[in-house]
Amino acid sequence: MEDIDDWFHRLNKAYGRNGIYELNIAGNRQIVVTRAEYVDKFLVTETSSHVMRTANNGLLSLFDLENKGVGLNHDYKYWKFNRHLFSQAIMPLSSTEKPSDILNPLIEEMSNYWVDLKRPGDDGAIIDISIWMRRFTADFISLLTTGKRMAIMEHYCKKLKNEPITKEMIDSEEFCESIHTFMSDNQVIFVPKILRSFPLIKHRIDYLLGNCNKFYGRLVDIIRKRRKEIDETIKSGGKLDTKRMDLLTSLILANTKYDPHPLKHIDPSLARPMTDDEVRGVMFDAFVAGTDTVSVYYLSHNPEAKKKLLEEIDTVFKDDPNKPVTLEVLEQLKYTEAIIKETSRIRPTVSMVSRYSSKPDEIAGHKWPANQLFIMYVRGINNNPLYWKEPEKFIPERFLHPEEIQKNSFSMFGGGSRMCLGRKIAIIELKTLLALVYKSFDVELVDMQAPLKVETSTITVCKELKVRVIPREKV
Ligand code: HEM
Repeated sequence: MEDIDDWFHRLNKAYGRNGIYELNIAGNRQIVVTRAEYVDKFLVTETSSHVMRTANNGLLSLFDLENKGVGLNHDYKYWKFNRHLFSQAIMPLSSTEKPSDILNPLIEEMSNYWVDLKRPGDDGAIIDISIWMRRFTADFISLLTTGKRMAIMEHYCKKLKNEPITKEMIDSEEFCESIHTFMSDNQVIFVPKILRSFPLIKHRIDYLLGNCNKFYGRLVDIIRKRRKEIDETIKSGGKLDTKRMDLLTSLILANTKYDPHPLKHIDPSLARPMTDDEVRGVMFDAFVAGTDTVSVYYLSHNPEAKKKLLEEIDTVFKDDPNKPVTLEVLEQLKYTEAIIKETSRIRPTVSMVSRYSSKPDEIAGHKWPANQLFIMYVRGINNNPLYWKEPEKFIPERFLHPEEIQKNSFSMFGGGSRMCLGRKIAIIELKTLLALVYKSFDVELVDMQAPLKVETSTITVCKELKVRVIPREKV
């Protein structure tokens, strides 16, 4: 079956010329918008009538996502409450060194595995970097949101080396793979209910549901363990460190007498502690967040950009090759950031961002009734020659002068009231990764002729990217 992103890309070429076209899928009307000038209304905050993400005529309730979590929550009241808690626990971290304190040792650990995998006589190990990035991101998010380590990268390395594996490692690996399965096929959640019983679709839905239940079960185990730890601390008269709380602890303490940031004027139906399933819904959003492997592909095909990246790294780490990447160092990695944005422009991780209108509206010069699903085709806008000279070319320099970029012509994290809550952390993660990986290794594609292998469900993930990682002389 054709990948949804390839299909949208093809439709955009055929019908996207005027910046708007209509799709009808099993009686469901979808308006696809492919021009920067027309997406303004979806990207403004608070007053917008385009807050909901879906028409909710699919299977959100079957997957227990209809009124849980943030990303797909369709219940305005619960979404707002969960978004507030998520934002309060995650957004302030980006101005602290906490993400860097987690990232630096984690990248060093991954680098050591890569060196370990090098066979005698070879100049570097051959690895599938897409598999490593998935594992790295899950290990990172676990530490960031729960303060606890998983052993996902460790499991993978030990498996490759045929070394003994513990039950804990296997559990962590299964958790990571269930996230991947969800990301690779979650599109079926939006299939209109009416198609639920079609044999092919039914099989996919049942498979995804089974996978989700495993994933949910594992998250609930993590939540229960933390509740127990908190209860024991309180019972033994210990003090909860409410100043440096992770997302999981904040969610468990929300609306309890230990909540350090109690919400005033809260809807009475929300003025109670969250259930395990509600906490699980929010934690789920953190783990299904995106990552990026694709920069490596574009850097390998654009030696000029790679050379500039290495020059920037060599300059920034000149005084001390072993210094960690801190907020101050991140500030200096301007070209590294431009590479991340240019990769996202050409091949966005989220290539479609949807909004569902609650009121009649006028968009792109047309009047639309209420309850209409709109899709911002981000990949189409990010690659539209109206806004980008030679859009197919990888030119990170475009992002060195942000004032020259036309409003709304580039989107990596969406916008408005549903904008990505992990955007700052994601940029910290991606910049630190790119800088430290290229500081320590020459990264070469094993097959320069192979096309980029990605697949899209609601997000685009890299399926396979084989590279040789050759340890670099220290700068
Ligand atoms: C490369 C990494 C990432 C990319 C490209 C990305 C992109 C996006 C995009 C495009 C959206 C939709 C925004 C909209 O509808 O306007 C989104 C939503 C969201 N993202 Fe991210 N994201 C990334 C990483 C993260 C991380 C690390 C977290 C948290 C730890 C996170 C948490 C969320 C949440 C909670 C939402 C839902 C917001 C809502 O519906 O109110 N994301 N992300």
